[in-house]
Formats: sequence, structure tokens, C-alpha cells
Amino acid sequence: MSMTPRPPIPSFIPETAPFTPEQRTWLNGLFAGVFGLPESLTPVSTEDAGKLLAGLMDGAVAPAGTEETDDGAPWHDPAMPLPERMKLADGRPLPRRLMAAMAQQDCGQCGYNCKDYADALFAKSEKRLNLCVPGGRDASRMLKQLYQDLDGAPAAEAAPSQAAPARVSAPGRSRDNPVYATFLSRRRLNKPGSEKETWHIDIDLAGTDLDYIVGDSFGIFPANDHDLVTAVLEALGAPPDFPIGGRTLREVLTDGVALSPAPDMLFELISYLTGGERRQKAKRLAVGEDPDGDAATLDVLATLHKFPGVRPDPEAFIEALDPLQPRVYSISSSFRRNPGRVSLTVDAVRYEIDERTRLGVCSTFLGGRIAPGDKIRVYVQKAQHFALPADPAKPIIMIGPGTGVAPFRAFLHERRATTAPGRNWLFFGHQRSDYDFFYEEEFVAMRAAGLLTRLTLAWSRDGDEKIYVQHRMREVGADLWSWLNDGAHIYVCGDALRMAKDVENALADIIAKHGGRSPAEAVKFIAELKSQGRFQADVY
Ligand SMILES: Cc1cc2nc3c(=O)[nH]c(=O)nc-3n(C[C@H](O)[C@H](O)[C@H](O)COP(=O)(O)OP(=O)(O)OC[C@H]3O[C@@H](n4cnc5c(N)ncnc54)[C@H](O)[C@@H]3O)c2cc1C
Ligand SMILES: NC(=O)c1ccc[n+]([C@@H]2O[C@H](COP(=O)([O-])OP(=O)(O)OC[C@H]3O[C@@H](n4cnc5c(N)ncnc54)[C@H](OP(=O)(O)O)[C@@H]3O)[C@@H](O)[C@H]2O)c1
Repeated sequence: MSMTPRPPIPSFIPETAPFTPEQRTWLNGLFAGVFGLPESLTPVSTEDAGKLLAGLMDGAVAPAGTEETDDGAPWHDPAMPLPERMKLADGRPLPRRLMAAMAQQDCGQCGYNCKDYADALFAKSEKRLNLCVPGGRDASRMLKQLYQDLDGAPAAEAAPSQAAPARVSAPGRSRDNPVYATFLSRRRLNKPGSEKETWHIDIDLAGTDLDYIVGDSFGIFPANDHDLVTAVLEALGAPPDFPIGGRTLREVLTDGVALSPAPDMLFELISYLTGGERRQKAKRLAVGEDPDGDAATLDVLATLHKFPGVRPDPEAFIEALDPLQPRVYSISSSFRRNPGRVSLTVDAVRYEIDERTRLGVCSTFLGGRIAPGDKIRVYVQKAQHFALPADPAKPIIMIGPGTGVAPFRAFLHERRATTAPGRNWLFFGHQRSDYDFFYEEEFVAMRAAGLLTRLTLAWSRDGDEKIYVQHRMREVGADLWSWLNDGAHIYVCGDALRMAKDVENALADIIAKHGGRSPAEAVKFIAELKSQGRFQADVY
């Protein structure tokens, strides 16, 4: 595919204006966007440039020009560690550095994609610095640091009571305007003996007016575990019915604030309430240092235990915590096939630290704490560039190990409901064939009925050797290449950190080997598939 070269950006900023070369380049790009290219080529005065810049800083002018930098966002890789991303963005305009601080998953959990969240922070239309769920504490800490460049003053992290005003959306269409749906049921997808705990979840949308299309995700507002809340109340030495803004302390701890991990503000609060070595430790923890080598294990309860006897006022304590964020899950059902229902495929996160079982808040909420009939706050998160081909005759190749299979179950149900004639090929993999073959009966029946043209399985713990989906892809590389030649769309879903990258590398090797291309041409071929919307990823 040929690319049209971009015209050079004209110079609006006089060489004498007091900007660094990077700032000048960026401002030129910005003004080109603001004024409209290419007619207005007259350089603006330093004074006018200053006024425009001030307007921009006040959020009066949208930062549309940030796109003009067209730097390809080389940090936009979820597998790249934060320090490396920040290094790549070093010297770039602030919106780009803000973007590099995000987890780069474009997962939508913050209500934006990474670039739009960064631009919204820069324009100050969004003030919450702690919305990047996959980026966690490191991302919000980096954003806070960068935000000081924008403000000249330390930015306050938004406590629940300070959250930015909700952006308007139809009910149930964004995290800012959730609706109540009814939890129907959960069914364990692994057989006894599995190391995993994965649940098929059904939710009733009756009374919500919600619908969705396959590829969309579903947002859930969870509640913290009752026993964890009790332990925090005990460590705090505060009564559960202590009043906080019209609610009780227990209620706010249950569904208002995150109890893992401990935010910097909590360490800061503790540093004010203690002295000596303990105060120094709390201060160091508050700026991201790790004086005792245990910072990664410090959720809110562990922090209270680390500083025994420190008894913050419950109100100040709550203000020091982060708001409890919703989590999103790939929808594993088709609305067309099951109107009024939504299904999810949820891996329950539980792990041990210091002999205490830590719970992933939302996955264990769905996997255990709610009961059929309970109301839960939900919303539909529209997919960005993750959808079935518009032409139902196009073949599709779906690569979804573990919970990554979720949207592909939805795709298959949709293709059946619409009697789409296109061929369907699913690569599924997990630990053990005996225990972890999710939706086995369904997929086997789909295979027998011809809906699933091919089903390729990879079991990583059945034998001595790890077999992953990408190993199976390589084994059938010639067929995979032939499907691609027939116009197939290819999809990957699941783990962003390792699997997605390995699958993409395998695809590049297959294209090189069976498509007779050099490695560089194979990479370019994949880039073209992506730009044509024929290679799409939903990774987390
Ligand atoms: C677009 C999208 C689609 C998704 N689809 C699905 C899906 O279909 N199914 C699914 O199950 N999930 C899916 N997820 C992930 C999901 O949103 C949640 O991130 C996941 O359920 C964990 O959330 P939690 O609240 O249970 O855990 P949290 O309370 O957020 O805890 C998770 C955190 O615990 C820590 N942690 C986890 N394991 C360990 C360990 N062994 N040791 C130390 N620390 C650990 C990590 O810091 C991790 O980030 C999706 C995410 C996105 C963005
Ligand atoms: N943010 C969160 O807290 C959260 C919550 C849930 C899941 N996740 C992540 O989301 C992903 C999905 O989890 P899951 O339970 O559905 O399944 P998973 O842990 O990804 O495992 C699914 C299968 O993928 C295999 N696998 C491991 N590394 C791989 C690689 N590089 N390439 C290809 N396959 C690989 C696993 O094998 P082995 O394990 O035998 O190596 C297993 O057979 C996981 O990465 C998990 O960490 C994150």
C-alpha cells in the first residue's frame, strides 16, 4: 500500500520567539491545525503566539494540533515498561508525554483511549489523574509529575468527592452514567482440578434500554469484599457507622474507594500523623520510593498494618484513597441471539501475599460475592476498531487463549444468528485440555455443524513442553497465509503483555515464510492489515 507523503508544516512561529526547537515545531503544528492548512502561511507574532498558547493552557482552544506532530507515538506499546516509554517521549510536547504515561492499552476503562485521555488532561477538561486502571499507581504518579509542568503547581489527585463533573452520555453508555442491571448467574468454566477459576457470567439487561454489538465490552462497578472492609475498619479503629457525607464509613469503604493498591496520598497522610523513622518511611513511600522493599505489596490494609497505631480521622482517610474504578470485560454473547442479556467470561484474580489472599476486586465480585437477583451498576463500552467485517462473506481468524476467547464466542454467535457465509477459524489455548477447555461442548457442536470451519487448540501444561497458540499458528502457517490471501480478517484477544506480541511475531514469520516476503516486508504487511482494519486486537 502506498503512503502519500505529508506536506511540510509551515512556520507560524518566528525564529526569534522564545521557544525551544521542539516547542516551535509543536506550536507550528498546532497553529497549522488551528488556522487550517495550507492557506494561512503568515507567521504569527510572538505576542499572538503567546496569547494562543495561554488560551490553550486554559483549555479555551482544543489541542487538535497535537496530532500534527505525527510522531507515530513509538511508545504506544502495552508491553513496553513505563521508563522506556517516557524515554521515547522525552522532549516531546506535554500531551505526548502525558500519553506515554498511560498503559497504552487503549482499553477504554478511563472513558477515553490513551491519546484522548492525555489530550483531555492537557486541555483540563479532565482533571482526574488516576483513571488509568492498567497503569495503576505508576501511571498516576507519572501523570501527577507531568501535570506539574502544565500547572506549575502540584496537582491534587481526585478523591471521590472531588471527581470531575460527569460527561454527558445516554444512560448506561459510559462509566460516567451507569445503569442498574440484574446479575443472573455464574457457571464455572474450568473442571475440578484446574489451577484457574474462570466464570461464565450472565446479566439481565431488562429495564435498562441497553443493547450492544459484538466486540463491545461491558463495564461493571464492583464492591469490595466484606471481610476486607471489616479488617480495614478494625485497623483504622473507627466505627462502621461513622458518618461520611450522608453515608456510613462501611458503605463508603465498600463501594466508594479502592482498597488496593495504597495511593501516595495515604502515605502522605500517614507521614503527617507520625514521626521519626516511620515518618521518613511514609514520606519516601509517598514519592514512589521503596524503603523496605515491600512497596508492591502495600494495599490499604497492609499499609495500616505497616504503620500500627496511626489512626487517621476517617474522613481524611477516605479522602486520601482513590475512587473505586469500574472494570471492563469483553462481551461473550450476541445481543441478536440473546436480546436483553449479556454474558462475560471472567477469570477470578486471587493471589497470596504474606499469607493473606488478595482479591481482584471486580473479578471476585462477579465470581463470588454477588447473588442472582442482585442489582449491579453497569455500562456498555463501545469497541474502538474491534468488530466483525462489514462483509459477512469474509473469512475470520480468531486467536483467543484463556479469557481472550470471550469476544470470539460472541462473534460466532453473531455469525450464526446472521447466517453469515464467511468461514470461521478459532485458535483457543489454555493450561490443560481436561480442565480448561472453555465452552467445549458449544465449540465442538459448532465445528460439527460447520459454523466453526476450523478449531485449533494449544494446551500449555498438558505435556513437558509449553504449547501456545502461536506455536499452532506456525504449524498451520501455509493454511493461515492462504486464508489471509482470501481476504480473511484476523483478530487477537487476551494478554497484552506477552501473548499479543508473540502472536504478532508469529504472524510476521508466517507471512515471511509462506508469503515470500523479507522480515521487514512482513512487518509492513501487518501494518497494512492493521490500517485496513483487517488485523484487530482487544488486549488487556
Ligand atoms: C478491554 C478489556 C477487556 C477485558 N476483558 C476481560 C475478560 O473478558 N475477562 C477477564 O477476566 N478480564 C478481562 N479484562 C480484565 C479486567 O478488566 C480486569 O482487569 C480483571 O478482571 C482484574 O480486575 P480485578 O478488579 O478483579 O482485579 P484488581 O483488583 O484490578 O487487581 C488486579 C491487579 O492485581 C495484581 N495482581 C494480579 N495477580 C497478581 C499476582 N499473582 N501477584 C501480584 N499481583 C497480582 C496486578 O497488579 C493486577 O493489575 C479486560 C480488560 C480490558 C481492558
Ligand atoms: N489485569 C488483571 O489483573 C488481569 C486479570 C485477569 C487476567 N489478566 C491477564 O489477562 C490475561 C488472560 O488471563 P487468562 O486467565 O484468560 O489466561 P492466561 O493466564 O493468559 O492463560 C491462557 C493461556 O495462555 C498461555 N500463555 C502464557 N504466556 C503466553 C504467551 N506468551 N503466548 C501465548 N500464550 C501464552 C497460558 O500458558 P501458561 O500459563 O501455562 O504459560 C495459558 O495456556 C493474562 O495475561 C492475565 O495475566 C489480567
